[in-house]
Amino acid sequence: MTVKPDFNKNANNAATTPAYLSIWDMEAYYGESYIVQGVSFNVHEGEILALLGRNGAGKTSTLRAIARLSDPQVNHGEIWLDHQPLHNMQSYEAAQAGIALVPEDRRIIGGLTVEENLKLAQIAPPIGWSLERVYDLFPRLGERRKQDGSTLSGGEQQMLAIARALCRDVKVLLLDEPYEGLAPVIVQEIAKTLNIIRDQGITTIIVEQNAVAALKLADRAVILDTGSVVYDGSAQEVLDDEKLRAEYLAI
Ligand SMILES: Nc1ncnc2c1ncn2[C@@H]1O[C@H](COP(=O)(O)OP(=O)(O)O)[C@@H](O)[C@H]1O
Ligand SMILES: [Mg+2]
Repeated sequence: MTVKPDFNKNANNAATTPAYLSIWDMEAYYGESYIVQGVSFNVHEGEILALLGRNGAGKTSTLRAIARLSDPQVNHGEIWLDHQPLHNMQSYEAAQAGIALVPEDRRIIGGLTVEENLKLAQIAPPIGWSLERVYDLFPRLGERRKQDGSTLSGGEQQMLAIARALCRDVKVLLLDEPYEGLAPVIVQEIAKTLNIIRDQGITTIIVEQNAVAALKLADRAVILDTGSVVYDGSAQEVLDDEKLRAEYLAI
């Protein structure tokens, strides 16, 4: 096993615990388009980090790069998860290492029941949570376990997408706009669940257009603007800083 370099001194954050996931000077392209322009930040074990920024800032691209999807292509930089270099990995290897991306469109498989969607996540090791544990956290999914996944409400589909990630042995949950299109009461319900997931030691990066909801949930925030980090610090500080919010989040 390789030893993780100490990126803490460079990645401008004052957290005292060592970094668990380190992104260092990551550059990524779609073809010729230079999108992620030297991004560095740390995520600490068991914390929720809000990754924010305007539309097109590069949030989805950053999550995809961490999950090692083929697009965008990472041409420079390093990604380390708990002493393992992710930047040399393929997406399936990153998944085995414990990275789970829950994409914006949720990708629930229609024609399969809720339970079948979950069982499908458990067909290969490393297997994570049991169905019982998942239904304990998401009682709605338990109630609907025999229902076709495509007939669920938006909120339930989001819960299923998160639950499916937990059925894998996830270390870092990457959530791309989990609150999109959901009523405030459902957003609150999912936020409560994400808090419980954090209490169980899972690390989360949440990308959200609903920045206020994400900031209320998160411990820290990183703000991107045109593919670069413009803020890395406490989430509360962003909530308190009107100027910062207006400039980079338009809220
Ligand atoms: N598949 C793609 N091919 C080319 N450019 C893309 C692709 N996906 C996203 N982009 C561009 O990359 C930039 C960042 O996009 P994205 O990461 O989706 O931003 P965000 O998630 O912050 O809204 C945008 O300018 C977008 O147009
Ligand atoms: Mg996006």
